[in-house]
Amino acid sequence: MNRTTEGSPNPGSTVTVAPSGAAAITRRDLHFAIDDVDLKHWHGDGTSVSQFYNAMSLFFPEGEQFFIDSVRHYRERITDPALLADIKGFIGQEAMHGREHRAYNARLAEQGYDAELLEARALSLLNFARQHLPPIHHLAATIALEHFTAILADVLLREPRLTAGADPRMAALWRWHAVEETEHKAVAFDVFRAITRGSVRGYVLRCTVMVSVSIRFLWQTARTHYHLIRQDGEHRNLRGWLRLMNHLWGRPGLLRRIVLPWLAYFRPGFHPWQHDNRALLEGWQPVSVARNLPRAA
Ligand SMILES: [Fe+2]
Ligand SMILES: [Fe+2]
Repeated sequence: MNRTTEGSPNPGSTVTVAPSGAAAITRRDLHFAIDDVDLKHWHGDGTSVSQFYNAMSLFFPEGEQFFIDSVRHYRERITDPALLADIKGFIGQEAMHGREHRAYNARLAEQGYDAELLEARALSLLNFARQHLPPIHHLAATIALEHFTAILADVLLREPRLTAGADPRMAALWRWHAVEETEHKAVAFDVFRAITRGSVRGYVLRCTVMVSVSIRFLWQTARTHYHLIRQDGEHRNLRGWLRLMNHLWGRPGLLRRIVLPWLAYFRPGFHPWQHDNRALLEGWQPVSVARNLPRAA
């Protein structure tokens, strides 16, 4: 079965998108046993790279709550039962991500980092959007960041060198998050399309918000990363910076490899499942480093 939805900027036209589903969205109630992980050194590429991922983690609990709220706001206006089921799966997964990244961030605080301050900074940015922008902008920001996380997840699942030498518990946590971001990558997008009905206005909004959100996301991640490595006294470590630049822009090149998928978002008929990467989900097993077994919602 193919699901056909409205979506080009020409009202009334249709575009065939993902193969049905497209992936099953499974809520997995997993706890990752990372209590005794040294978060300064968990990544094989050293402190600066460890802190880059730690910086992203500091955004997730508040960010994922924002995504949930943005989608939930429009749930009553959705009539498609398949999309309603997807929304339920999406909310369930994001809630679990928020919980596990909150625990991760609490470990950062225990290890002496200003995690609470940095999380509060993320929250104040989101609260500014909540107070000053209408709900459709919240949803547009959500689909932009969901695309961002989905393309990062694709590279993470595709490229084993990104987690080479990492603590296996941390690698498992990031892979679990990447798997579920892939499973639900189109849910918020489909809600946005159902609400904006493939209008030109919706297209312009999603593109402009993507540009502004990308700049903010990268700037805030860089700022948070710098705060963490300054706490480590590593902010003048040239070798650390070079290793980070190589990780992001050289080999394996986490950010280098998302440039083209990021640009794909600006195509008028774009849909996340036009890039069918479900093969990356096959054979994934989270249980070896988690404290309990996955449980379907
Ligand atoms: Fe998430
Ligand atoms: Fe997500």
